Amino acid sequence: MSSRPLFVVLGLGDGSGTGSAAARVFSQAGYRIALIARSGRDTAQKLADELNNTGGEAAAFPVSAYNYATVHDVFGNIDRHWPNAQLRAALFNAGHGVWKGFLDVTEEDIDAGVDVNIRAAYSFSREVILRQKELPLNDKGKRGTLLFTGATASLRGNVTTSGFAPGKSALRILSQSLAKEFDKQNIHVAHSIIDGQISTARQRNLHGEEWSSNPDNKLLPESIAQSYLYLVDQDRSAWTWELDLRPAHEKW
Ligand SMILES: NC(=O)c1ccc[n+]([C@@H]2O[C@H](COP(=O)([O-])OP(=O)(O)OC[C@H]3O[C@@H](n4cnc5c(N)ncnc54)[C@H](OP(=O)(O)O)[C@@H]3O)[C@@H](O)[C@H]2O)c1
Ligand SMILES: *[C@@H]1O[C@H](CO)[C@@H](O)[C@H](O)[C@H]1NC(C)=O
Ligand SMILES: *[C@@H]1O[C@H](CO)[C@@H](O)[C@H](O)[C@H]1NC(C)=O
Repeated sequence: MSSRPLFVVLGLGDGSGTGSAAARVFSQAGYRIALIARSGRDTAQKLADELNNTGGEAAAFPVSAYNYATVHDVFGNIDRHWPNAQLRAALFNAGHGVWKGFLDVTEEDIDAGVDVNIRAAYSFSREVILRQKELPLNDKGKRGTLLFTGATASLRGNVTTSGFAPGKSALRILSQSLAKEFDKQNIHVAHSIIDGQISTARQRNLHGEEWSSNPDNKLLPESIAQSYLYLVDQDRSAWTWELDLRPAHEKW
């Protein structure tokens, strides 16, 4: 049996959000799944077991934090686990969010925002592109796809976003620079603006029963994940750099 293409996702939250949904959707679509998550959480191992027990092939790769060095090192662990894997799709999904007035933003907030939203993304992108540029073209005429999860804050600041909108917008423009540099090598880089609230367990707890049961006001992680698979399945004659996704009743 020829081995499955590899999908690497970084950022799993508590297992109910976008990163985990993407892992499930890509596993169903026949990918091997490498789950990168911050250590001290058993989310990644539980999800790996779940995917393994439902016909998939997955492994957890914990890291202590998201920064340049930890992300570089974890790709070495993935290589050792699956030598010669074809890394055809990758998703940078972590996001550091703080909602505060500007005068309350601390140096720690700034450091965390820069480490997670920018430095870890540089390191992740470098490791993915180094591997994808060595791959043969696939049946879509590409070597691989590199995806990023953005937010409303990737495009617009607001009264409580000074602590993280600069990081999210930096991530967006990094992805555009990579798209332009690496499209010549048939590597597809795509960014998604998630312009609304996602139905994660955390958001449902925060907003309560009425918000949670309204089907019009939030993005389902599974539906975002289906859009990511759509991006990966695009062929090189018509591919998207940026997608924006929002629920039907979002004000924008
Ligand atoms: N939730 C929303 O309503 C919403 C709306 C628009 C855009 N987004 C974006 O969508 C992506 C996925 O979010 P989600 O809501 O599905 O999951 P989430 O539970 O909000 O967590 C986002 C991801 O970022 C990591 N993360 C969170 N806080 C962090 C921190 N302080 N330091 C380092 N890493 C941190 C987590 O990774 P680990 O758990 O593996 O450490 C997690 O996977 C993020 O990029 C987020 O910015 C979310
Ligand atoms: C998944 O199953 C394979 C063999 O079926 C095994 O080698 C691997 O260790 C399992 N991984 C997990 C995370 O359970
Ligand atoms: C900006 O913030 C205000 C105050 O929190 C909020 O009411 C408004 O909806 C926000 N605007 C956008 C476009 O998110």
